[in-house]
Amino acid sequence: MSRKTILLKSRPNGWVSEDNFELSLSEIPEPAESEMLLEVLYMSVDPYMRGRMNDPKIKSYIPPFQIGAPCEAGIVGRVIKSNGGKYPEGTLLSGLGPWSTHAITDGTGFNPLPDDSGVPLSYYLGILGMPGMTAYVGLKAIANLQEGESVYVSAASGAVGQVVGQIAKNMGCHVSGSAGSDDKVSYLTDDIGFDAAFNYKTADNLTHAIREANPSGVDVYFENVGGAMLEAVINNINMKGRIALCGMIADYNATAETISTSPRNLTVLIGRNVKMEGFIVSNYPKESLEWLQVGAQWIKEGKLKYRESVAEGVENAPQAFIDMLKGKNFGKQVVRIKAD
Ligand SMILES: NC(=O)c1ccc[n+]([C@@H]2O[C@H](COP(=O)([O-])OP(=O)(O)OC[C@H]3O[C@@H](n4cnc5c(N)ncnc54)[C@H](OP(=O)(O)O)[C@@H]3O)[C@@H](O)[C@H]2O)c1
Repeated sequence: MSRKTILLKSRPNGWVSEDNFELSLSEIPEPAESEMLLEVLYMSVDPYMRGRMNDPKIKSYIPPFQIGAPCEAGIVGRVIKSNGGKYPEGTLLSGLGPWSTHAITDGTGFNPLPDDSGVPLSYYLGILGMPGMTAYVGLKAIANLQEGESVYVSAASGAVGQVVGQIAKNMGCHVSGSAGSDDKVSYLTDDIGFDAAFNYKTADNLTHAIREANPSGVDVYFENVGGAMLEAVINNINMKGRIALCGMIADYNATAETISTSPRNLTVLIGRNVKMEGFIVSNYPKESLEWLQVGAQWIKEGKLKYRESVAEGVENAPQAFIDMLKGKNFGKQVVRIKAD
């Protein structure tokens, strides 16, 4: 058996395509002293990875992927060989690793996972991983969400959005969201308790659709999309509203020619005393750890549901990544590298 790894072959200009990646076959590596060999079980594909494929001259909070080197992702893997490493063989770990069937690590940045938690292992890349933490941090630390407020979230059925809506619902808020298909909208209102939702692709007018979903206006907007969506939310934002700038996926594949020219109404924020604040989840370790407790407890109590799309095999990771950026995922997109 050999090791399969996905390398970045070239940097996308505009939309990323499968041609930007290359599958490499190599021998399974041996762990050096103090290292472990992991068999990767699941890997995550996330929107922020698109930024890591950009020209390294563009300044970012996270280093770019290198041409000819493996792309990196959140992974869940099992230690199958330890050469005096930090964890014994058989330990389940999660952390950042290559898009690959195998990973070598000395354990830095990896956390052990319980073998018997009763939740699917892939959840540690989603609801009990970075996306779930993001939802919690955005609502608690950034938007300071209060019971009974009116919350609107875009990309609402995705990895982060579906958690945002359910946290807000569990806090007694009025919750609304938008998504890109009627099936996704039904999931929001029929399965996970949103009070209102709409399909932004078929809505005649975004400002009106948001108003209909939030008759008393929007107190907190959890921003995942940007562009025209942000402009339409600003038209509906309440006095003393808060906007948590989590992501702006509408522009992740944009070029200088196609980048959004909205929002054009930022002055509204002044008169309405609105706070708009960006954040990166990794800068909020305290709240992230808190979420692991709260989220696990809520899952146990049946207060949280989580939908995933699962692609099979590391060779299909590039397509899964592209599909996710295009909205073909329904819920958190993960790639199963090997069934455990
Ligand atoms: N700040 C942080 O620390 C942090 C951490 C994690 C994630 N994020 C951000 O959070 C957002 C959601 O991430 P996620 O992991 O939960 O991804 P996701 O929602 O599971 O997947 C991305 C979704 O974005 C939607 N989308 C794509 N293009 C769009 C467009 N032009 N307009 C509207 N919606 C569009 C698609 O859903 P539809 O079918 O509904 O269009 C797609 O399924 C992203 O912006 C991401 O960068 C930020």
